[in-house]
Order: sequence, then structure tokens, then C-alpha cells
Amino acid sequence: MSTTLPKILVTRKIPAAGLACLDGKANYRILRTQGVPSYDEVKAAVRGADAILPLLTERIDGDILDNAPTVKVVANMAVGFDNVDVAAATARGVMVTNTPGVLTETTADFAWALLMAAARRVVEGDRFTRDGRWKTWEPEGLLGQDLYGATLGIIGFGRIGSAVARRAVGFDMDVIYYNPSPLKGEARQVAEDVGARSADFEELMRESDFISVHVPLTADTRHLIGEGALALVKPTAVLVNTSRGPVVDPAALYQALSSGGLWAAALDVFEKEPVVPDDPLLSLPNLVVAPHLGSASVTTRNRMAVMAAENALAALAGHRPPNLVNGDVWKG
Ligand code: DGY
Repeated sequence: MSTTLPKILVTRKIPAAGLACLDGKANYRILRTQGVPSYDEVKAAVRGADAILPLLTERIDGDILDNAPTVKVVANMAVGFDNVDVAAATARGVMVTNTPGVLTETTADFAWALLMAAARRVVEGDRFTRDGRWKTWEPEGLLGQDLYGATLGIIGFGRIGSAVARRAVGFDMDVIYYNPSPLKGEARQVAEDVGARSADFEELMRESDFISVHVPLTADTRHLIGEGALALVKPTAVLVNTSRGPVVDPAALYQALSSGGLWAAALDVFEKEPVVPDDPLLSLPNLVVAPHLGSASVTTRNRMAVMAAENALAALAGHRPPNLVNGDVWKG
């Protein structure tokens, strides 16, 4: 390792485009080329690093940072940063960055893929066909729910939520949204453009035919979709979650889906990831699942890796990184 270049701990293998940005500018070490490093592995490996480039699978907290007093920046390769204890980083003067914007459209596309799969029973139909159960065209076989003209309720009308709303225009849907704070900038414009109406949370749960969740995970949003919220939905409603797993209470979701309180759901994210095959939720035919694929396109993952690398390099060069989450630490 050269002594002149800053040292970056990259916790797992990221797309080559991101590593290419670091070439010649930093001395990087990839902790794990396969699998996820344990908390203790990360804690031991950060010693002596100037920056950490983690993924959402690694928890970066005060204890880890105390083991690495030389670390100036945690450059998360994700837009969500609930895996990083931002308060602990701020208290130690460590910058935290994320990767907003580059994954917005890809994630919105995937929310729609799940929504449509759940509404029109695409996965059930696939299994039915492969299992040799398709004997004839059935007038009432595998009937789904129509999208066109339906009401789409969006919880969290930020970048991704508003991108999901834009796509609803093509289906002639009515869009309502619940956002914890007044809309700003582009999201406000999108709401105006698509004629989206603001609703309170309970109203949205009651009125929506489709509910798509796009809030970050915070103390306020943990189990936001729980027993109380699910008691309000139409029995024909479909719930889609591409945000963070713990926003939906899995026990309440199981109860709603298995009792007919909720018609179907689609989850890209789970309270505990990876979800285990014998999780009760996976026994439900009216649940479509994916292994946290929202941003998983070649182009988008390359962009996320590049953005994380550029954030790290900017901070190490003494510049304000473009996607600083904890602006309080920036002394200029
Ligand atoms: C994120 O970036 O927060 C997503 O969950 C993964 O792309």
C-alpha cells in the first residue's frame, strides 16, 4: 500500500466503475469479495482507514468509528442510510454521504413491476403454468385487480415516490399521497403535474386501491404499516414496499393477507434480510417477493458505485462531498 494515498475500506465488492474512480487516487482494500463481512470483521478492518465505503448490509456505528479515529467519511453506496448511525458519526466529526437521484427511476420502475405482478397475479400464473396445472382457459381463473382508473396511494412523496406517481398517468389513475412534511421542489411540481392530492395517512389507507411505500426508515416510520393501518384498507387493496422492510410490520401483514383483509402485497424489502425460506409470509400465495432488487439495474448500480466513490474522494480531498447527509459536520 502506498503511504501517500488515502486509505479506503470498501466493505464488499462493488461495480468496477466505482473502483475505477478510486484507482490512482486512493489505496483501497475490498474487505469481502463474496458474502457479507461480520460486524467484528468491519470493526477490525477499519483501523487505519481514512474512509469507509460500506453497503446497506453493514452497520456502521460509534464503536466502529471509535476503532478508526482517522476515518473522515462514511460513503454509503445506497440512498438509504439507516445502516449508519449518523448521530454517532456527527458527534465524531465524520461525514456521511449517500447516493440519491441515480436510483430514482430504476427503483420506481421496480415498484411498478411488483405492483403489476401482484395485481395481475403474474408469479402465481407462472407457477401454475410450470406446475402443469393449466388445463383450459378459465372464465374465473387467477382473476386480478385492474390498475387503470384505480386510486394509487403513495406514502412518502420524495424522489422515488413522485417518480412512481409520474408513471401512474399512463394508467389513468388517481393519485393521492401522504407525506410527513410539505412537498418541496420537484416533488411538488410532480404532484401538480399529475394532479396528485394530499391525504392524511388514515385517509390514504382507506381510499387507495394500490399503496406504494417510499419513506426512509426512521423511529417514526418503523412499523408505520401495522395492524391499525392495515385494518383500514379495502379488502381488494394491494400493498407494495420497496423502501425499507421494518416500515411494514410483518406479523400484521401476515394477518391481513391471510385473513382476506388485504388482497395482495409485494415486498422487495424485509424486516430481516435475507428473509428465510420458512418465514410464514413466504407461504402466502398472495404475496410477491423479491430480494431487495429496487435499484438493481446494471447502469444504476454502476452509477451508485461511482457516486459513492466520488463522495469519498471529495471528502478526502477536503471538499464538501456532493451528497453530504450530515451537513452539520462541514466546517468549510
Ligand atoms: C438504497 O439505495 O437505499 C436501496 O435500498 C438499494 O439501492
